[in-house]
Amino acid sequence: MPQKDSGAGITRIMPATVENIAAAAAAITEGRLVAFPTETVYGLGADAFNPAALACVFEVKNRPSFDPLIVHIAAYGALEKISNLALVSPQNRVIMQKLIENLWPGPLTLIVPKRPEVPGLVSGGLNTVAVRFPAHPVARQLIQAGPPAVAAPSANPFGYLSPTRAEHVAEQLNGKIDIILDGGKTEFGIESTVLDICGDSPRILRHGGTSVEQIEALIGPVAASLSLGNASPGCLLSHYAPLTKLYLYTPREIQKVQWNTNAAYLFYSELSRREYRERHGAPSAENLFALCSTDNTSAAAARLFDTLHLIDALKYAFIYAECAPANGLGNAINERLYKAAGSVITAGGTG
Ligand code: TXA
Ligand code: MG
Repeated sequence: MPQKDSGAGITRIMPATVENIAAAAAAITEGRLVAFPTETVYGLGADAFNPAALACVFEVKNRPSFDPLIVHIAAYGALEKISNLALVSPQNRVIMQKLIENLWPGPLTLIVPKRPEVPGLVSGGLNTVAVRFPAHPVARQLIQAGPPAVAAPSANPFGYLSPTRAEHVAEQLNGKIDIILDGGKTEFGIESTVLDICGDSPRILRHGGTSVEQIEALIGPVAASLSLGNASPGCLLSHYAPLTKLYLYTPREIQKVQWNTNAAYLFYSELSRREYRERHGAPSAENLFALCSTDNTSAAAARLFDTLHLIDALKYAFIYAECAPANGLGNAINERLYKAAGSVITAGGTG
């Protein structure tokens, strides 16, 4: 039975054991909301075919209803129940098959034509729908034990950082949802890449856990509408923002920013952190953060939200952040930093 008061009051935070996954699957079947780990970030799951449960997702997240959700599946056959694949052009079908064979399960979301049976709340009224087959065993077991299509946005209030740990979900959504399945820290630490295959040619709407290089190696060049524009309905400029005001710099410019004890400095690598420290003779390094040791965009992506959560908790007045290189998952990092900054790179050394 759909419940409007999904989990109101008490949230059970449970380790992701077999029994607890079964209990969580039953809760989703009953129309309740469950936060669960995926390999990217924690999702807030509801039965994709239960409009009352979907309405709760929007309410709990305070998310505008025009911002569509991703449907998570755990069997290839479930795709047909959500998408009318007959509407995909033969050329795009080939592309889609290659992507699915090579990159699913994994951090890649495909925008495909929607079946009319899929509630409009899932797709924000669009005639397309986002589908993803997550790789995380807990996510897969949950979907296999419950409804075969689980709509799940990231389990954070709208506009705030995505959660990479069960604690982040609890801090933001405690008392508002039924269950949080704790599966530890997520592997990628950044959301899935969203790829639209409904147009003339494939287009990246959101950079994420699958790199452009991985996609292009399979299907050739793809366009990317860097979501500074409004490519994806959810790609608002101020998305993924920490509470602390963030200013974004190029690697060269951040080195010129004055050192201050009330600010947090977020460097891409340990190398630039060290360079900054030496240049400014910073007596303390505790407000200088680095996302990776030398140059590893995946490792840096995995630490991005986690570090921003930490900096928020430490209550610095500002964050001065350095762009990542534009390769691998660096694009995904930069997209989120642009949005957190609410603007493109801050010119000059001011902030
Ligand atoms: O890694 C992820 O993708 C995580 C985990 C939980 O799977 N989920 C996630 O969901 O990031 P969410 O709701 O925070 O982001 C979904 C993005 C939004 O930018 C939304 O606008 C876009 O996908 N999207 C969903 N359906 C779409 C559609 N039909 N057309 C274009 N963009 C769509
Ligand atoms: Mg989100």
